[in-house]
Amino acid sequence: MKTPLKGVFNGAFDTVDNIKISPFSRAYTFSDSVYEVVPFFNSTAIAFDDHIKRLEFSASQLAMAVDLKEVTFEINSLITSSEFSNGYVYYQVTRGVDPLRSHIHEPNLKIETFGYAKAHLFQWKPLRVSVCDDIRWGRCDIKSTSLLGNVMNMNAAKLDNCDEVIMHKDNLLTEGGASNLFFVKNDSICTPALNGNILPGITRALLINELKNYSIEVIEDNFRLEDLSNASCAWLTSATKGLAPISEISNLESHLDLYHPLFKKSEEIFNKKFLS
Ligand code: PDD
Repeated sequence: MKTPLKGVFNGAFDTVDNIKISPFSRAYTFSDSVYEVVPFFNSTAIAFDDHIKRLEFSASQLAMAVDLKEVTFEINSLITSSEFSNGYVYYQVTRGVDPLRSHIHEPNLKIETFGYAKAHLFQWKPLRVSVCDDIRWGRCDIKSTSLLGNVMNMNAAKLDNCDEVIMHKDNLLTEGGASNLFFVKNDSICTPALNGNILPGITRALLINELKNYSIEVIEDNFRLEDLSNASCAWLTSATKGLAPISEISNLESHLDLYHPLFKKSEEIFNKKFLS
């Protein structure tokens, strides 16, 4: 029998199957929620404080007051009480249950929280991706559960046997559907600079900082589709993907080396620091 997924809802720990949610939760009616995916390895969260800070930022942008002490306690409890030592915690904060569906919410709703822990193997296979128009809104720096643009693009790509997408706005590269983009151009590691069109990925920041310790600079700038087309290798980063190399771009001419020395070095440095 499969072990039931353990979760926490509004502070009460239970199996996820036992958690009941109101259809008037604004998570359900408006996806008026923010979230985090916190990876843990050897029962220790990776960059825990950075995830909490990003959650605080996301919630503040939606003017939601979150009890970060409680969130910290719940995420830690999910990690320490789980039967597995490698996995991630999904944690969502929602504005609350509104008595009536209305875009303008009632004042002082009680914040609703939900989290669960899931086992995860930190192993990745090379990704086949496609490039597509970034059809999302202008505040992708908020880690919100409103992810329809990502969902539409990624599912369209799936029909072309792709695992992920790389999005661009008017040819300017933004990010993956659920990840950040890195590539090597003229022997330099490049990544799109942060702005409202990109989620400030924690894995992205960890990698950039760690590479700096090895005197490897990452260029953060505006890059275009043709830069990707001329890249000698590329990879995507996220809490669950780690550093996942791209083998193929289905709809863009490219020549990507899965074993490029700068990718292998980045992978080695990242894994040594965070996954060993
Ligand atoms: N997604 N960009 C987007 C749009 C993302 O959804 C994610 C992560 C990232 C990478 O962020 P981080 O390195 O902090 O995981 C970038 C998570 C994993 C998800 O939604 O499942």
